[in-house]
Amino acid sequence: MASHPLIRTAVFPVAGRGTRFLPATKASPKEMLPIVDKPLIQYAAEEALKAGATHLVFVTGSSKRAIEDHFDTDHELEAALEAQGKHDLLDALRGILPREASAIYIRQPAPLGLGHAVLCARPVVGNEPFYVHLADDLIDAEVPCLAQMAAQFAVHGASLLGVQTVSPSETDKYGIVASTPVSERLSKVSQIVEKPKPDKAPSTLAVVGRYILTPAIFSKLEHIGRGAGGEIQLTDGIAALLADEAVYAYAFEGRRFDCGSKLGYLEATVEYGLKHPTLGAPFAAWLKTALSGMPKTPGA
Ligand code: UTP
Repeated sequence: MASHPLIRTAVFPVAGRGTRFLPATKASPKEMLPIVDKPLIQYAAEEALKAGATHLVFVTGSSKRAIEDHFDTDHELEAALEAQGKHDLLDALRGILPREASAIYIRQPAPLGLGHAVLCARPVVGNEPFYVHLADDLIDAEVPCLAQMAAQFAVHGASLLGVQTVSPSETDKYGIVASTPVSERLSKVSQIVEKPKPDKAPSTLAVVGRYILTPAIFSKLEHIGRGAGGEIQLTDGIAALLADEAVYAYAFEGRRFDCGSKLGYLEATVEYGLKHPTLGAPFAAWLKTALSGMPKTPGA
């Protein structure tokens, strides 16, 4: 079996404006929205660490200081918790970023698009394959999504896109791929289009926020120019990459929550609340009562 380099760098583009969550995201990044007791960006970092990444690269923009503060050590807070004997909380804080990992911050000077954000990470990533993780796509899976993809990369050594089937009416929210099946979850991409209208979409296989990319993507992103919505689109860079290299689509196992939308965020909050080791049972009991008191939907 072929052996390919381990992936040690994960790029987290967190420089978007988060307009769908205004006013909550006016002064605080959407990636700091909590699901139960952890911000989205911490779930993201944990997933990347479990997939072997040790260099966590955050591409930040304005109003993103909270992310840097979250991954920094807060000596005063730790001392206070120590003095109060709150060891569980202390462990939770100390576990945010393990010693062997480092957090690196790069500024995207203006929100010119996801492709541009990824290009900003080039000086840190260098000439190696890397993960791209969009924290607002939260994926609940037995084996973390990036780890599933890393296992595929170990075999194929090519770029991989995390995909899932969406309803035909939703194709204009995603990058959509046309692909030919290789195995149960893997297919080889022949075409990728950003946000096509349903009648123009080549399939209903949508790219969600998980990627493994080879460094060849950078020179493509440098040259593609602005695409859909006037932004430099990662999708267009991948379309250009397809001309030179194989790119695979991987239908990951797990449930994805679109936490960049209010409904997806609420769904994730409820699901993760119900699964929480100590809150799950009392929350389920409360939810049952709350739902039983709700007026019936007319016609239901
Ligand atoms: P979205 O399409 O979700 O855009 O970006 P957004 O600005 O974050 O949110 P809305 O649509 O206005 O509500 C997808 C990902 O790409 C990052 C975002 O932070 C998000 O993780 N991104 C987007 C950047 O880092 N820079 C950009 O210029 C655009």
